[in-house]
Amino acid sequence: MGFFIVFAIIFMQIYSTGAKVPAVIVFGDSSVDAGNNNHIQTVLKSNFRPYGRDFFGGKATGRFSNGRVPSDFISELFGLRPYVPAYLDPAYNISDFATGVCFASAGTGYDNATSDVLSVIPLWKEVEYYKEYQKKLRDHLGDQKANTITSEAVYLTSMGTNDFLENYYTLPNRRSQYNINQYQDYLVSIAEWLIKELYGLGARKISLGGLPPMGCLPLERTTSFMAGHGGTCNTDYNKVAMMFNGKLSDLVKRLNIELSESRIVFSNPYPVFELIVQKPSSFGFESAAVACCATGLFEMGYMCDQYNLFTCSNANTYVFWDSFHPTEKTNRIISDHLFRTVLATLS
Ligand SMILES: *[C@@H]1O[C@H](CO)[C@@H](O)[C@H](O)[C@H]1NC(C)=O
Ligand SMILES: *[C@@H]1O[C@H](CO)[C@@H](O)[C@H](O)[C@H]1NC(C)=O
Repeated sequence: MGFFIVFAIIFMQIYSTGAKVPAVIVFGDSSVDAGNNNHIQTVLKSNFRPYGRDFFGGKATGRFSNGRVPSDFISELFGLRPYVPAYLDPAYNISDFATGVCFASAGTGYDNATSDVLSVIPLWKEVEYYKEYQKKLRDHLGDQKANTITSEAVYLTSMGTNDFLENYYTLPNRRSQYNINQYQDYLVSIAEWLIKELYGLGARKISLGGLPPMGCLPLERTTSFMAGHGGTCNTDYNKVAMMFNGKLSDLVKRLNIELSESRIVFSNPYPVFELIVQKPSSFGFESAAVACCATGLFEMGYMCDQYNLFTCSNANTYVFWDSFHPTEKTNRIISDHLFRTVLATLS
């Protein structure tokens, strides 16, 4: 290779990686969990086949998909590693985590009572792990470099679906305390706490993730079918998701003013996800109503296992991988869209 070509390639690499976002740091639930639940006592796991069959090396990492989750794609789009490793995974150490780390835990939510349901990592504990990570990062790189990573990193948060579907609409406790509007406000107050806590710890670029059209998850369609509504999306749940997204969006506007050095964005997957579910064929999908894994009607976690003969052979033709989680292809479309429209401004 000639000198100029080598130079051009190096230049392009520096340019395309922006070199401005040194790390992606992730908080949330199964939508972004990279395998933290493998290392805790819970029944909510996915570190077995067919999960991960389209991941690098076909490895079942504990991600709730056939391949990568949105935070993995977003890390790659920022020019970083094409996946974000789980903080509790002993295969990685602080040198690896310096460019990206995931504290998310499947089954968790804003509400402490949600993480209690399946004994997963509560949000406050994710933040405690982040504090421990910061300390390790300072010990490893020194204060100055560690502080630069802290302030230039992009923080991704993605949770809330479980607060409504696993907790509020399933168990009586929160419903006896709050009406749905009050419960949303309660969750938003915790989202506010989270952002302020991260800001206080030095974070500056934060993406608050919104809810998908959660009434269209195959499990909710099945429930709706059992209730005699013909297997259509649960429109009440979709309305709640939209209303909640509106409140999160307002919170982001307010906090950008209040926290003067912050750049907070609202990453709303709802509109593009709704398009995919309404017109799957225009995105190359054949099915949006049932999932790839098993019967596609209700299975996830241990019920979605490699011995199930119904599991589809090509997940790329399905919007959903299991009854609660999108396929890698859906995750990629949503990540590309959010990156182009919102997240790229953080680089
Ligand atoms: C992290 O692990 C790699 C090998 O996987 C090793 O080369 C490196 O020294 C380790 N770093 C620390 C800080 O332990
Ligand atoms: C959640 O639990 C933690 C630990 O007990 C506590 O510090 C925190 O205040 C709780 N959050 C809310 C919103 O109650």
